[in-house]
Formats: sequence, C-alpha cells, structure tokens
Amino acid sequence: MNLEESYSRKTNLTHRKKFAQFFTPQPIADVLSDWLLGNDHCKTILEPAFGLGIFSRTLLNKKPTISIQGYDIDAVILEEAKTYFKDFDNVSLKVDDFMFNDWESRYDGIICNPPYLKFHDYDNKLIINEVNRKLNFEFNGFTNLYTLFLLKSIFQLNKNGRAAFIIPSEFLNSDYGKLVKKYLLKTNTLKHLFVIDFKENVFDDALTTASILLLANDQSESNINISTVESKTDLERIKKYVHLYPNTEGEFSYPPAELDPNLKWRKYYKPQHSASYKNLVPFSTFAKVVRGIATGANEYFTFNASKAKELSIPESNLLPCICKAKDIKNNFFTNQDFEALIQKDELTYLFNGQISQSDAVDKYIKKGEEEGVNEKFLTKSRKPWYALEKRPPSPIWVSVFNRNGIKFIRNEAKVSNLTTFHCVYPVCSDLFSTISIDLLFAYLLTDVAKEIFSDNRREYGNGLKKFEPNDLNKSQVLDLSILSKSKITEILELYLKFKSSTDKRFITQIDSILRNEFKITLKHDDLGLAKTAV
Ligand SMILES: C[S@@+](CC[C@H](N)C(=O)[O-])C[C@H]1O[C@@H](n2cnc3c(N)ncnc32)[C@H](O)[C@@H]1O
Repeated sequence: MNLEESYSRKTNLTHRKKFAQFFTPQPIADVLSDWLLGNDHCKTILEPAFGLGIFSRTLLNKKPTISIQGYDIDAVILEEAKTYFKDFDNVSLKVDDFMFNDWESRYDGIICNPPYLKFHDYDNKLIINEVNRKLNFEFNGFTNLYTLFLLKSIFQLNKNGRAAFIIPSEFLNSDYGKLVKKYLLKTNTLKHLFVIDFKENVFDDALTTASILLLANDQSESNINISTVESKTDLERIKKYVHLYPNTEGEFSYPPAELDPNLKWRKYYKPQHSASYKNLVPFSTFAKVVRGIATGANEYFTFNASKAKELSIPESNLLPCICKAKDIKNNFFTNQDFEALIQKDELTYLFNGQISQSDAVDKYIKKGEEEGVNEKFLTKSRKPWYALEKRPPSPIWVSVFNRNGIKFIRNEAKVSNLTTFHCVYPVCSDLFSTISIDLLFAYLLTDVAKEIFSDNRREYGNGLKKFEPNDLNKSQVLDLSILSKSKITEILELYLKFKSSTDKRFITQIDSILRNEFKITLKHDDLGLAKTAV
C-alpha cells in the first residue's frame, strides 16, 4: 500500500474534502516530473500543494541532488509527509497557506496538483486581492482556487524554469478561465496542454476529465501544442512529446497569437460540429434563453397539495411550477401530466404571498420571518422579501445539466419552472427570421441541433455537461427561416406525427431533411486538389 492509500484509509472523507485532498496517480506524476527535469539546470523545486509529496518522491528518485520546498495548509497531512521525508536534508516542508507565502522566492521547477475549491469555499476576496496586487492583473471573484495556484507559480518561475500542473479542464471553457488563459498567453509560458478525457476509468480515482499544463519560462518562440488524451496509449504519447521538446508538436499546434483567450478553447482541440453546416445563425435570432425562477429558499417557497391544504393556503397564492427535473419524463409536458404530479403530491407550486387576502398567507409570511427566510442571500434584497421573480411561463424548457445530451421540453401546461430548467422564449426579431414555435421545437428535438449546441457546452467531472443561458443564446443553430414553404410543411407534418405517436423515427426523418438542406458538401476542383464549400 502506498502512502496515499494508507493516509486515505485512516483519515475521514470530510477532512480530505475540506482540503481538496485528491491524489495524483503515479504515471501522471512521472510525466510531470520528467517535464521539470527536461531543464538540465534544474536545482530548486517548489511543490505548493504538497500532500504526501508524490511529485517530490518521484523527482528525488530521478535526480537525488535537487532541493525541494513544500507547502501544505493541512498540518495533519504534512505531519505524515514529514515522517517520510525526515532523512532528506534537501526537503523542507512548511505548514502554511501557499497563496500568502513565499512570493519573493523563485524556482527552477514548480510541480502541482492544486486544491480544487470554488470561490465560495475559500477566502476568495483576500486571496484574489493579493494575486491582483502582485501580478498586476484583474482576476474576478468567481475564480477557482486551483487557477490562482497556477498563476502564482508562473510568477515564481526562474528564467528557463519549468512548471507542470494537473488541474480540471473547466477553466478552458468557462468565463472565469478567460483571464487565466489571457495570463498564460501574456507570459508566453504555456508549451503543452493535454486535455484528458478518459473514455474508461483508467485510474482507480475519479480522474476522468482534467488537463495537464506544461510551462516553461524560456521565452522561446515555440507554438502552443494542444493534444487530447483518451486512453493509456495516449498517455505514452505525452511522454514522447515531453522528451522531444522543443522539437515537437502536439496533436494541434498554434502560434500563441492565434489563440483567443475570450473563446472556449474546446474549438482548438475538438472538431466543431457547426463547421459542417452552412447558413447558421445564433440561437438568439429565434429565441431568448433565461434561467428559471430562483427562490433563494426552495424548502420554504415550494408546495405540494398536502402542504397547501395543511396550511390553508388558497390556490390564488400558489403559482403552478415544476420544481424537480425528474418530474419531466417526455418531450411534451401537458395539463394531464401536471395534474398527475399534483395527484401524486409532488412539489407543484410556489408560494406567492404578494396579493394576500388570507390570514393563513399572512401567518406563513410571518413564519418565514421567524425562521430567517427573509435574511437569505436572495430574499434579503427583494422587496418584499417573499416576492417571486417575474418570469412568465415559457413555451419551451431546456435542461441545465445533462449526461446524455441536451433535452428540450414543450411546456404545453403553461406552468412556471425553477432553475433545474432554463426558459426558452421564442422571439420575433424581424419579419424574415420569424418562425413558428412548432418548427423551432421540431428542430430542437433533432440530433443535428444537439450536436451543434454541444460545441458550446461546459464540462464537469464524471461526464456531466452544463449549459448556462448565454452558452445557448450564443450557440449556433440552422437558419430555419430560409427553408422553403414545402420543406416547412413536410417537417411540420412529421412533427405532428411524432407528437401523436412519440415514434422517434419521425424525428430522425426531420433530422435527415435538415442535414440535407444545410450540410456543407465538398467538391474537388478541376485539379482534384483543393476542396471548396458549395
Ligand atoms: C489535490 S491535493 C494534491 C496532493 C499531492 N500533491 C498529490 O498530487 O497527490 C491538494 C493539496 O493541497 C493542500 N492545500 C489546500 N489548500 C492549500 C493552501 N491554501 N496552501 C497550501 N496547500 C493547500 C491540501 O491539503 C492537499 O494536500
């Protein structure tokens, strides 16, 4: 049993989670260490989120003469590490917060699997102020702690020094990542980026999506290389790239000026589905996506029929609403479906206390105040605190989190929804781009629509995908307004057949019609060399 396994056995999960103690698998530690030692002059090493020092153990095996400085904020884990390293005079370990220490030192090598903590799980204001002051940059409050470890480390690199980080890939495709990417480009330190997306569980731990960043402060004019890693064999490829640097290219290779920090970087390593189609427009041409109702205290505001009866809340103070994603099973949500949920005593209402002519309502508002519901983050800024956000029921919903592709639902019951769904409101921007809701919804059910939307998704661990409203508003869709009248009629007929039968084959037929109409077809020119879109 290795050090990490025995530590995990004897330390409870709450403690490990509090400090984000997730350990690096040995084959990954090998690759990261080799990158650092690729600099022949590497003498001083920093390991900022030390844990049990898997990187330092690996480095010392390969080059015993290096000297190492390690930091960890958790005295418990570092005590354990100190026992292991007690005979190493060249390893110094400090129990301290890396973000507030050691800013003045510089190192030849920095190696790290930093803590993954969201902005509300650490003292983000204080740390971000510190980072902004030192780096003369303007990172915002939503930044995850792992990216700040990365930025500080880049700042602490000696000339020709190298850094190797394994971090979640989230920053590549999220808003808070834009400034991080900007800093990577500004410092010209990123040399290789490996985006890990293991198709099967390669390591015992939950490492399925992550990214490895190999950085060098060598001011070389080299390209930024991006490669995807989907299997153990791909991991072998990384080793080759590391040993051949700087005489190597990754799967994709870009001059730094070609990478735009404001875009999702997925487009630089994953083929974009939208590139196969012509006549695309932003989804906002046809619809506006807005998040569902946030109450700030669902426990208090959501009601089922029995709670309403028990508290004598009249129907006029209850807003029909879908509260849980699991309550929606099909693509069409009808009045009968909603009635069935009420009968099953599911949560189907939101408390709306604003127009009250009932003692029971006043009493319930008072109860909320006694329980401090009026002092919660969202409620305390509302007037009155129990006011509901004004969102008319939207004719279409879209799921926020998805495992098996984005899902659209036609809200025929005309009820409201909480934030498990976003609202989709069709718009009539101008006369020519107006299309019927049925045509729009028919399109949203097709695989081609889902494929193109997926270009803009965010990815979380364990295959979970998320769309924020603006990911969808900015996403591309086929411009349905250019379809001929006869094609539209054909599509709508198939759509009605699907609606009455739920036979997916009708949607597949709509999908083929649209692909035929919008697919870019390639033709060889006279010499048979170049390919052009027609
Ligand atoms: C993801 S673990 C990595 C451990 C080890 N380096 C590895 O790769 O197996 C992150 C480590 O950072 C430590 N940590 C969390 N916040 C820290 C901070 N602000 N300063 C220094 N260490 C911190 C945690 O206690 C934990 O041991």
